[in-house]
Amino acid sequence: MTILVTGGRGQVARAVVDGLLTAGQPVRVASRDPEAAQVPDGVQAVRVDLSDPGTLPAALDGVEKVFLYADAKGIDGFIAAAEAAGAPHIVLLSALGVETGDPSNDPIVRMHRAAEGALRASGLPWTFLRAGAFATNTLQWAPAIRATGVVRAPYPQAHAASVHEADLADVAVLALTGAGHEGRAYPLTGPESVTQQQQIDCLAEATGRGIRLEEITAEEYRATLSQWGDAEMVDTLVRHLVESDGRPAEVSPVYEELTGRPGRSYAQWAQDHAADFR
Ligand SMILES: NC(=O)c1ccc[n+]([C@@H]2O[C@H](COP(=O)([O-])OP(=O)(O)OC[C@H]3O[C@@H](n4cnc5c(N)ncnc54)[C@H](OP(=O)(O)O)[C@@H]3O)[C@@H](O)[C@H]2O)c1
Repeated sequence: MTILVTGGRGQVARAVVDGLLTAGQPVRVASRDPEAAQVPDGVQAVRVDLSDPGTLPAALDGVEKVFLYADAKGIDGFIAAAEAAGAPHIVLLSALGVETGDPSNDPIVRMHRAAEGALRASGLPWTFLRAGAFATNTLQWAPAIRATGVVRAPYPQAHAASVHEADLADVAVLALTGAGHEGRAYPLTGPESVTQQQQIDCLAEATGRGIRLEEITAEEYRATLSQWGDAEMVDTLVRHLVESDGRPAEVSPVYEELTGRPGRSYAQWAQDHAADFR
């Protein structure tokens, strides 16, 4: 049985590959840039771009399970290729707000709804990993912390139950290697809600550096994001911060229910990634 892991350069995919190799499973890694994915020795790497269906048949050949990054534009082509390759079980990296969020003004909700909906309507077995905010989102602060030790951000009391990529990978490995996960959607968050200020404090502790959060206005923050050129995504990110300001994020019990142990805290994540901030 070969397990295909897409999104090979991503932090979650890397953790999934590590987890599968530790579990002794045969893995094939797919990335738009397989060389940059730097797969472990002995692991096959193939080029896959979900928006280019021609890259899929060779990657899916002989595959029984797939860890899939969502791509709304490519999902129909992916489903057709997977059905032609023998209908492997698909474990989709989805997002927490997919049911509760508003697709009319949130492109993340729209994208994940489209990917989930297409898989539900297909003949493929599926499992959805509905992840909350990734702890890796705070890597956006790494360049400023390395250069100056000062993070300029709005809403220091905005909360997130940030999830460690290793926790997402643990559940992905369970779903990819165990029985009884077909047709299930798992909400996955970190074990506690933390504010942006508390995240900065964890990074200071983990790196042994003085790190300061300098509060800026929402308008100043918008200006730093405007280079993306995606106004709706900028609005969405700012709205999420406003909505979580001073409001603890909901914590899902599902990681602990599935694995029998508590999820990794943000403080743990900061320890694990301290080198990125030094
Ligand atoms: N960031 C969060 O807080 C969060 C929370 C919940 C869910 N999510 C979801 O998790 C996914 C990853 O998000 P991210 O924030 O880590 O980073 P990202 O920059 O959106 O995605 C990076 C990953 O996506 C893969 N990818 C992108 N386009 C692809 C394509 N056309 N074909 C194949 N693979 C493609 C990349 O793989 P290669 O470059 O190796 O091909 C890489 O592994 C997204 O679907 C996002 O909506 C994110």
